[in-house]
Amino acid sequence: MGALADAAGKDTVDPGSSPASAVAGAGSGVVLAARGLSKLYGVFRAVWSVDLDIHENDIHVFIGPNGAGKSTVLNLLGGQILPTSGEVYFDGRSLGRTTPSWRARAGIGRSFQLTSIVPGFTCLENVLLAVQARRGLFGLLRLHSRDEDVAMAEELLDLVGLRGVASVPADLLAHGQQRQLEIAAALAGRPRVLLLDEPSSGMSAHERAGLGGLLRKIVKSATIVMAEHDVHLVRTVATRVTAFSEGRKVAEGTSDEVFDSAEVKRVFLRGRRDA
Ligand SMILES: Nc1ncnc2c1ncn2[C@@H]1O[C@H](COP(=O)(O)OP(=O)(O)OP(=O)(O)O)[C@@H](O)[C@H]1O
Ligand SMILES: [Mg+2]
Repeated sequence: MGALADAAGKDTVDPGSSPASAVAGAGSGVVLAARGLSKLYGVFRAVWSVDLDIHENDIHVFIGPNGAGKSTVLNLLGGQILPTSGEVYFDGRSLGRTTPSWRARAGIGRSFQLTSIVPGFTCLENVLLAVQARRGLFGLLRLHSRDEDVAMAEELLDLVGLRGVASVPADLLAHGQQRQLEIAAALAGRPRVLLLDEPSSGMSAHERAGLGGLLRKIVKSATIVMAEHDVHLVRTVATRVTAFSEGRKVAEGTSDEVFDSAEVKRVFLRGRRDA
């Protein structure tokens, strides 16, 4: 088992260490990559033969109409689902059939909508749980939190703009604030790559504007890969955009390049007619 697997702990599926698996992206600034990634449900191609290179410290945004395959690709990168064929590479090494928790320990974090928030616990307690979870079972069982864990949790609440509601039960927060809290909890694992699925969903216009600023702060320490429908947010934060349609990658580049591409215009216009 290689250094990557050692760093992530022992309860793993070997991600593969043969020379053949060590290809995509090693040493080129590419932190996460996919080659020939496909996910079939029966004969339905939810994701079909996708190649991706996610560069370190990019805000890489997936766009596309409903059902295009954006969430499925995020789930394939995070290990929530396994591909029918193809590979995902982290730091140039195949992740094989590794689990989401293995990938999280290796540095691929994921914000899980509301499932990561414990109702009845305050915002601070929620982030504290995530900070201590990073330390393993010992951290969860500790009766008294170490000061440094509390300090880190407070720092994360500060970062996402929730320090003022640290003692408010998480389930009393507005939906947009809960999404900010999820991001704080995901950051407690100190991910190198953070996967976010439509972080702006359910947010007010004001909260969306704040989210753009938050993403730019986060990207100083982590690469962000996110699916997003809000075109304004995509145009203001994305450093790279991949457009999907019917499970396939149809365009990639800067947001201007992608939104100006004839294929993307065609796909979005068709999506609007279908709606
Ligand atoms: N478990 C599943 N079984 C069968 N089909 C599935 C399953 N999960 C997803 N799909 C289908 O795969 C396609 C891609 O879904 P996905 O959720 O990735 O799209 P999306 O781009 O994230 O869409 P949205 O913008 O609505 O979130 C859709 O047609 C969806 O119905
Ligand atoms: Mg989706």
